[in-house]
Amino acid sequence: MCGIVGYIGKKPAYPVIINGLKKLEYRGYDSAGISVVDDKVKTYKCKGKIADLEKHIKGKDLNGVIGIGHTRWATHGEPNDTNAHPHKSQHGHFIIIHNGIIENYARLKNKLTEKGYKFNTETDTEVLANLIEHIYLKGKVSAEQAVRLALRKVIGAYGLVIICADEPEQLIAARKGSPLVIGIGEDEYFIASDATPIVEYTKSVVYLNDNNIAIVTKSELSLKTIGNNILTPKIQILDLDIGEIDKGDFEHFMLKEIFEQPRSIQDTFRGRISRERNTIHLGGLHKVMPKLVNARRIIIIGCGTSWHAALIGEYLFEEFARIPVEVEYASEFRYRNPVIHIDDVVIVISQSGETADTLAAVNQAREAGALVLGICNVAGSSIPRETQGGVYTHAGPEIGVASTKAFTAQVTVLTMMAMLIGKKRFILDEKKYEKFITELLRIPSKIEEILKNNDLYKKIAGLYVNSNNFIYLGRGYFFPVALEGALKLKEISYIHAEGYPAAEMKHGPIALIDENMPVVVIAPQDDSYEKIVSNIQEVKARGGIVIAVVNKGDKTISEIADHVFEVPSTVLALAPLLTVIPLQLLSYHIAVKRSCNVDQPRNLAKSVTVE
Ligand code: M6R
Repeated sequence: MCGIVGYIGKKPAYPVIINGLKKLEYRGYDSAGISVVDDKVKTYKCKGKIADLEKHIKGKDLNGVIGIGHTRWATHGEPNDTNAHPHKSQHGHFIIIHNGIIENYARLKNKLTEKGYKFNTETDTEVLANLIEHIYLKGKVSAEQAVRLALRKVIGAYGLVIICADEPEQLIAARKGSPLVIGIGEDEYFIASDATPIVEYTKSVVYLNDNNIAIVTKSELSLKTIGNNILTPKIQILDLDIGEIDKGDFEHFMLKEIFEQPRSIQDTFRGRISRERNTIHLGGLHKVMPKLVNARRIIIIGCGTSWHAALIGEYLFEEFARIPVEVEYASEFRYRNPVIHIDDVVIVISQSGETADTLAAVNQAREAGALVLGICNVAGSSIPRETQGGVYTHAGPEIGVASTKAFTAQVTVLTMMAMLIGKKRFILDEKKYEKFITELLRIPSKIEEILKNNDLYKKIAGLYVNSNNFIYLGRGYFFPVALEGALKLKEISYIHAEGYPAAEMKHGPIALIDENMPVVVIAPQDDSYEKIVSNIQEVKARGGIVIAVVNKGDKTISEIADHVFEVPSTVLALAPLLTVIPLQLLSYHIAVKRSCNVDQPRNLAKSVTVE
């Protein structure tokens, strides 16, 4: 949820920290702060974005080769200067930045209050800072010991970086449920909540596991468990390019990411589909394939956009592999004692690989004995590490808070999986399989074609920029696309939007339709084309405005609808990959015209690592 950066080495810490925070700002942006250390610890923080912090600290003493920084997405306490991180313990011995939630903070706070501690903020982090300090002073232990002992009393999730003012030559990092990665340079180390601030300095990294604590000096990294068992750091090489986390010539990351989709989809099937041999090969599923092919049921779990991809997965697996599928919100699944069998296969989908609810669902399903597989975008993140197999999406870093290219990459992976399993189960015959492979390989160039109509989406966006509500309708494969279109609009333009299965409209939502209601209908030609035409007529008969996504050359709907967005035709199961593109761009342009902060919409953060 929040972004964390730490640096210890030989160069000035401030530029590393502030640039790192800018790269992590998509994770949270309600307040920010830094601490730098030379002969003393200097802390500056304020409400607002990193740009506000930069203004706030202009001209201040920022010297020091050790430092930490934080960009916040508030959980405890409103976003203001005081609640911004870093937090200092009462007697100034510890300075902490924290991502996550200390669930038992109220109880710990009461105990510390009884011992004379006073609190200046409403945060759970200040409680932790004071708890560490209390143990440190009372037990006369080292900073590291105090941190380890304190963390044994804590219930909840944390990614932490800590400075002890008495031992200023080191940073202490600890992780439980909230990611942290350490970059290894030459006589310098970088700590961050994801690799994006690190990659420009080094590609050698160590991902912390839950219950790990790292003590980092400029020349040494020592890794332990919270229980004080020494661990050998496992160094991994980042497969991430600095250019991938730059906006380039685009005005926003979201726009760049929408336009990257031909490439990100290609990257997702590159090396996995062989046109010559007509095969699909998914290495991460090799070992688990027998269980997957014989699954009694597949449960697909995700949140937000990943949940919408999961819904498309349901249609794909049922059509191609004839395996019953259930789709679950991770947050519901984990709290309702679901019935899980050992011959169930659970597939979790997550762009970040860190979503707290999805990660908890992984653990729950594993405990119940199911095979759990992941579809994730961020290599080395928690979900791929906790699952027994899976497929990376290879969409490249997605920085815009609104997910676009990750969604189409997830759907691409689900399509490949469903086709592969369908073939192995003899449901999908050779001819059909070959046809799908051919069509899938054509998707990137068809998306290129759709992107060429960007000016049209922009023009139509201009007509509805002041609408207060939108409805999105689709049937079958296009119902999840309708949900995704509505979510995109809601999250970046703050216009209320609802997605519905088109046939459900007459069971209630039709009452909302009047001349002020734009209704976006996803209606490429398929088996239910006649029915969706009727649904459009029902909207028109009540004065609604219809914006339809249709196949190129469609005559019928073009005559009834107010506006049409044409997409090239493809096989039905692959059409979500095309039809979603105009919806992403429509939302984008509406949000820009409403002067919304497209890449950092209010109240949101890119990865939701708290429940
Ligand atoms: O990283 P994840 O895919 O697990 O994230 C799930 C949702 O938080 C995410 O899709 C969210 O809904 C996006 N903001 C949608 O654009």
